[in-house]
Amino acid sequence: MSRRMFPGLVAASAALAAGGCGGTETDTVSDSASGPTASFDEAAVLARSAEVAGQFQAELQAKLKEALAAGGPILALDVCHSAAPMIAAELSQESGADLSRVSARNRNPDGGLTEELLPHYALLQEMPLTDGKPSREIWRSGEGEAARINVLSAIPMQEQPCSVCHGTDVAPEVAAKINELYPGDKAIGFEPGELRGAMLISWPADEVGG
Ligand code: HEC
Repeated sequence: MSRRMFPGLVAASAALAAGGCGGTETDTVSDSASGPTASFDEAAVLARSAEVAGQFQAELQAKLKEALAAGGPILALDVCHSAAPMIAAELSQESGADLSRVSARNRNPDGGLTEELLPHYALLQEMPLTDGKPSREIWRSGEGEAARINVLSAIPMQEQPCSVCHGTDVAPEVAAKINELYPGDKAIGFEPGELRGAMLISWPADEVGG
């Protein structure tokens, strides 16, 4: 399984975090918690995870920036709707990790929390930032061939541009478009600093030495 290494892109993702549709400076996050019995190289898994998440971020932000400039939030909603799941699927295939975004108040109907994620998400919710950087959780799950190393990285809500589509005062035409694309949407009404969601990067344990 080949994986792409674009350190430049990862660095660029931080600069592009103002683009929209899901921003977290995943290349600079700090570790908020770890399993007490971790037997794998935690720092290495966190670094690889940050790299994959950074690629996701960079590709999505580039598409969104372009769409926002070309057609405003309505077009950007369409772009995010189709591009976000597609980029996640592509990067999952390339990296070997399963990449997805989740939230307690999700927009994408597939982005809800599983029972396994709940306690980890709750900790991120309590403290979205650690030393000014998005908090993360890392833990091992499953046994034998099903064993996985999981990283959950906080995505804090920001004023700009997130509030256009996730804030407390979403414009009526933007809200209408959101409801058309996501009839069960729960992802508006967020205040800056709250946890908007998290990125889950889940590795087969044998692939990362765990
Ligand atoms: C142009 C509107 C728009 C803007 C601006 C925007 N988002 Fe989103 N966001 C969306 C849409 C649409 C989805 C659902 C994408 C999908 O179908 O997977 C989404 C999904 C997400 C998700 C995945 C969880 C979920 O609810 O489905 C997170 C996390 C997220 N956004 C965070 C952010 C953050 C942080 C910002 C600001 C940096 C931001 N978004 C800005 C439209 C937007």
